[in-house]
Amino acid sequence: MNHAFLNELAEAAGAICVAESASFKEVSIEYKSARDLVTSVDKKVEAYLRSRIAAKFPNHSILGEEQGLLDKQSDSCWIIDPIDGTNSYIQGLPGYTVSIALQRKGEIVAGVVYAPVLGQMFSAERGKGACLNNNRITVSGTSKLIDSVLSSGFACIREGFQPDNLGAFSRVIPKVRDFRRHGSAALDLAWVAAGKLDGYWEQCLNIYDVAAGVLLVQEAGGMLTDYRGGIDYPAGGLVATNGLIHEQLRKLVVEE
Ligand code: IPD
Ligand code: CA
Ligand code: CA
Repeated sequence: MNHAFLNELAEAAGAICVAESASFKEVSIEYKSARDLVTSVDKKVEAYLRSRIAAKFPNHSILGEEQGLLDKQSDSCWIIDPIDGTNSYIQGLPGYTVSIALQRKGEIVAGVVYAPVLGQMFSAERGKGACLNNNRITVSGTSKLIDSVLSSGFACIREGFQPDNLGAFSRVIPKVRDFRRHGSAALDLAWVAAGKLDGYWEQCLNIYDVAAGVLLVQEAGGMLTDYRGGIDYPAGGLVATNGLIHEQLRKLVVEE
């Protein structure tokens, strides 16, 4: 896999996001539901990424949040979230990312999460570690929940999913040092991989939200499970940690 291609692709996509935000009044916004928005930039970035990938790998499949699956009956599938953190993007906040992953025979083998405003390029290849701006990263060494800083999200609320994340949130917050809500699952996972967060949990995520971030956490020595401690994530919820606090956090999330 051409690692440089992934990074260059993400960087070019991030540049589109930043350039378009400079004239934000021209950006159109549609409502997928009352609180789930998509902009013309989400669609423009995905179209750009799909065209670049198809030009280089015409026989590969592509799954993107906005256009869905282009099934080429291939062992290789690219998984794209053109803007993860659209609400942050719309608000002019920096916590949004471009997330691109390559899946081969069902396994994520390479991925990048790029935060263009923050200048943070997270990348990983299976078996070769994870990097931030080409410097190796590893998860944190925090072993007690009371010393941990965690993040989560609340898309379940906008989806009307029950039980939602508010019960878990009320159980977890009194037991940890601090909490952050950034608005990009991919960035949350990248920051767990980099040891900037000690853990992250969320439900109602899609594969394109997490495909690249999951590989980052795995290659940085972290641990990922579904809410029950299995491997059915993100469908069964997702808990991503440094491994040391995993069961402490997971049991609070599901009230075990
Ligand atoms: C969302 C972000 C958010 C998470 C939601 C996702 P989007 O992705 O990752 O942090 O809480 O579950 O849907 O809609 O901005 O691509
Ligand atoms: Ca997303
Ligand atoms: Ca998105």
